[in-house]
Amino acid sequence: MAEEILSAEKQNEDLEPVELRPRTLDEYIGQDHVKEMMSIFIQAAKNRNESLDHVLLYGPPGLGKTTLANIVANEVGANIKVTSGPSIEKSGDLAVLLTSLEPGDILFIDEIHRLPRIVEEVLYPAMEDFAIDLIVGKDETQKSIRVDLPPFTLIGATTRYGDLTAPLRDRFGVVHKLEYYDISALEKICQRTAKIYGAHMEIESVSELAKRSRGTPRIVNRLFRRIRDFADVLNDGVIDIAITKKALDKLQIDEVGLDQKDYDYLYGLIDKFGGGPVGVESLASSISEEVTTLEDVYEPYLLKLGFIHRTPRGRQATEKAYKHLKRSYQGGLFE
Ligand code: ADE
Repeated sequence: MAEEILSAEKQNEDLEPVELRPRTLDEYIGQDHVKEMMSIFIQAAKNRNESLDHVLLYGPPGLGKTTLANIVANEVGANIKVTSGPSIEKSGDLAVLLTSLEPGDILFIDEIHRLPRIVEEVLYPAMEDFAIDLIVGKDETQKSIRVDLPPFTLIGATTRYGDLTAPLRDRFGVVHKLEYYDISALEKICQRTAKIYGAHMEIESVSELAKRSRGTPRIVNRLFRRIRDFADVLNDGVIDIAITKKALDKLQIDEVGLDQKDYDYLYGLIDKFGGGPVGVESLASSISEEVTTLEDVYEPYLLKLGFIHRTPRGRQATEKAYKHLKRSYQGGLFE
């Protein structure tokens, strides 16, 4: 049973609607390597009657880190408590959470790179020895007492592996990077979603949607719901290629899945900074975005498409980006 400690807003942002969430590894599509490994580690822990080793999942947003944590809990038959780095402000908050765990429970910490350092230090003995050191008393009578915890599994998730401190990183026995999904996995996710909602979707539409979902299940599912709105209102509920293309064009999602924000980024880079290289701070402020939003949300997919480079002197648009935007490329001339 999941006990959610995140705010409702955060949950909605992070989790698929309940009817779409896969509950088992078998239902989970894609990330085959991660699935295979997790399935073995879960089986081994169950056979030995031990808690699963701590797991760190990292990668761009929307690829299913939270979903996977819930599946692991379900597969090991454990409770999961869900929280996030920025919502644990004090060591005491984490101590309360840890001491409320039952043997075998899973503690899921999203955005674990944002745990305050002082709180993070409470995690070290908790992860390593299933114990925490509580400070009691004041001044001369102050002392530290060790409190044992039940064996538990920490699942940490982050979009920024590089921001984790080495001592924290080293305490995870299992570390997996979630990759962008390929088109065929996205098609399967889309077909599964259409089936759950009882919608009729033509195969050509499935492919088109998969192509424009930037490798991300959460985006396939979100766009699916919008296209279904168009189909219900304008096309007797039939999701064919014409209504799919019409909806995606109205939603301003281009053929490779770029949206208005990506265009702001690329036009900013090309028109305001001559294609770069430009520092990420200047680029972010020129399009009124946070640096972390550019780094965590927009850039990973633009990098994957080969539309930008991260150079030591800053961000640079590639010839491919110029072509996509139908701009003439002068770059290479002087290089
Ligand atoms: N919904 C979101 N991610 C999914 C996945 N990987 N498999 C099936 N359904 C999903």
